[in-house]
Amino acid sequence: MTKTLIIANWKCNPVSVVEAKNLFKSADGVVRNAKNVEVVICSPFVYLSELKNGPKDQGSGVALGAQDCFWEQKGAYTGEVSPVMLKNLGCKYVIVGHSERRKYFNETNESVNKKIKAAFEAGLKPIFCVGEKHDEKEIIKEVLEKQLFEGLAGVSASKISDLIIAYEPVWAISSEEGEYCSPEYAFSANLIIKKFLFKEYDKTVADKARIIYGGSVDGKDAGLYIKEGKLAGVLVGKASLNAMEFGKIIKSMDAISS
Ligand code: 13P
Repeated sequence: MTKTLIIANWKCNPVSVVEAKNLFKSADGVVRNAKNVEVVICSPFVYLSELKNGPKDQGSGVALGAQDCFWEQKGAYTGEVSPVMLKNLGCKYVIVGHSERRKYFNETNESVNKKIKAAFEAGLKPIFCVGEKHDEKEIIKEVLEKQLFEGLAGVSASKISDLIIAYEPVWAISSEEGEYCSPEYAFSANLIIKKFLFKEYDKTVADKARIIYGGSVDGKDAGLYIKEGKLAGVLVGKASLNAMEFGKIIKSMDAISS
């Protein structure tokens, strides 16, 4: 059985390695008693090497991810971090195309596409973020299809099973409007994405694709997005920085997924 995905995006937090280790350890402790969820923590680059082993005696129950990567594996690119570096450090996942990177760092569908391909090449699983802005709600289908079409250009069907697509409506992210996105609304976006995959690839790809939801997810509502297996998991920002709240999310999703 495929496990429900719970991915934490810490964004530019916390500010010390001690806090990062404590947060990680706390999630790790909860995950050890869970059977039906796969928990991934996407930490800032600087903490990744500190977090990768988890408790020494048992090995960690939490998978590691990064929040971005470069599209080349090495070379003279000052300040960049490559997918192969992340892989060698023990990362399994990498977020690509988050709306905050699109907004503040000029990320485009073209650069997202290069990063997705480079991540695959290094053996990482990309978490590809798509989502419409508030004033794009009326044209959500066009917006999502364009992001998907350009972001996945040249990505073969065989790779899609290793891809996570994160639907994150920009207006629902806590640092933006933080408006409530109902599960039904997220399910309709899920359907747009599935239909796109069916059209561009085939039914098997569309059926198997792992699509998750992100945007102000907390312990109360996390489970609603995965009911009836509609979505494959959640991407959690702010609530993942609160050990108790994140623990609640893990426990509730584990119980629902059993
Ligand atoms: P919040 O959960 O803080 O709304 O963040 C969502 C997000 O952007 C995760 O990538």
